[in-house]
Amino acid sequence: AQTVERTLDGAVSVGGLDVRRLAEEFGTPAYVMDEDDFRARCRAWRDAFGQDADVFYAGKAFLSRAVVRWLYEEGLNLDVCSGGELATALAAGMPAERIALHGNNKSNEEITRAVEAGVGRIVLDSFQEIARVAHIAERLGRRQPVQLRVTVGVEAHTHEFIATAHEDQKFGLALAGSSSHPEAGGGPAAEAVRRVLMLDSLELTGIHSHIGSQIFDMAGFEVSARRVVGLLTQIRDEHGVELPEIDLGGGLGIAYTPEDDPREPHEIAKSLGDIVTRECEAAGLAVPRLSVEPGRAIVGPTAFTLYEVGTIKELEGLRTYVSVDGGMSDNIRTALYDAEYSVALVSRASEAEPMLSRVVGKHCESGDIVVRDAFLPADLAPGDLLAVPATGAYCRSMASNYNHALRPPVVAVRDGQARAIVRRETEEDLLRLDVG
Ligand code: LLP
Repeated sequence: AQTVERTLDGAVSVGGLDVRRLAEEFGTPAYVMDEDDFRARCRAWRDAFGQDADVFYAGKAFLSRAVVRWLYEEGLNLDVCSGGELATALAAGMPAERIALHGNNKSNEEITRAVEAGVGRIVLDSFQEIARVAHIAERLGRRQPVQLRVTVGVEAHTHEFIATAHEDQKFGLALAGSSSHPEAGGGPAAEAVRRVLMLDSLELTGIHSHIGSQIFDMAGFEVSARRVVGLLTQIRDEHGVELPEIDLGGGLGIAYTPEDDPREPHEIAKSLGDIVTRECEAAGLAVPRLSVEPGRAIVGPTAFTLYEVGTIKELEGLRTYVSVDGGMSDNIRTALYDAEYSVALVSRASEAEPMLSRVVGKHCESGDIVVRDAFLPADLAPGDLLAVPATGAYCRSMASNYNHALRPPVVAVRDGQARAIVRRETEEDLLRLDVG
């Protein structure tokens, strides 16, 4: 992934920069992101999907103005799911037609801003929202392109998927129900399509489905695509319209540990393209324009978190607790999802015996774990630098100020140069919000 090498004295360098220098210049903890790697992943996705499909980067994974510019330059589109993400995208100059707005509870302000800006797509998530977006678009004299988010009864995580997952969740409109096209269902989704098609201020361009996170097994997408195409078929038969778009969401997995075996973008593109083409041909439908929304698969592997080791506590017969200068405020994923990460000593080489370690943060609770089980060299000492790879996605974007921690910077490295694209928070930043 990243261009990571060991220097002659055993320290690690990234993009030609020694991590000890990065720690000196930017402090720790810091997220260190490889800009070339980010751009290369964007290109790999774009090239894999080609001219007949669109790649929308999911901004929730990590968003900043620099990232928006990289996406723009590499030909990607952007999925935002809040007013804040929309504001960042627009502030960085992303053309509105390349932005899609998501969310299960978009506010009137968010919808108004998106319609006014002219976003290329609003993904409708409920009956109430159909009426609200239609009303706002009408008031603004616009015809807003929309997709409808459906739940296909598939839930996928890592190596497993459940094809009959129940619909007891907050997103989208369920397909399930009785219908002449059993794959499509005759449930709320079909009813929502009827309503959207009656509204002049909405232009229904396609159907959207997102089935889960950190997925390696393409079988879940296969079921999802089949059911979405079933709905498109039903729409053609009932309304005489063939919708031109289909979006299969994001959720493609990355390697957090060596056991994880992610698919490459070209395999994913081929697999999804084949499924959609096959299903459409079987139904006699023109093949719609496909889009996908990878977040983690693009940004996840491009960054590591650099920490400085502080207190080390050996618990006889159990393990050694290695405290670092961050923790659950910069990476909540271990505490929240029991996520697995690896960790390495990066400021020097060591030939010492491996010791069973748990890398923990500095927060006031015992669940504040960064890496649950890892082997680190037994001569580890305060002041050493550790790197936790694959923290580009859902770490800075889910960071908090718990215990009034100052959220770390994101340092972009390229061509032997490093610059903060998001600076470290300061105590003044914290106090600025505390008005009284
Ligand atoms: N599209 C939609 C509609 C989504 O809801 C999501 C993620 C994505 C795309 C991007 O998924 P990705 O390709 O990044 O997996 N905080 C969790 C992940 C939550 C993802 C929610 N939706 C984590 O840290 O694993």
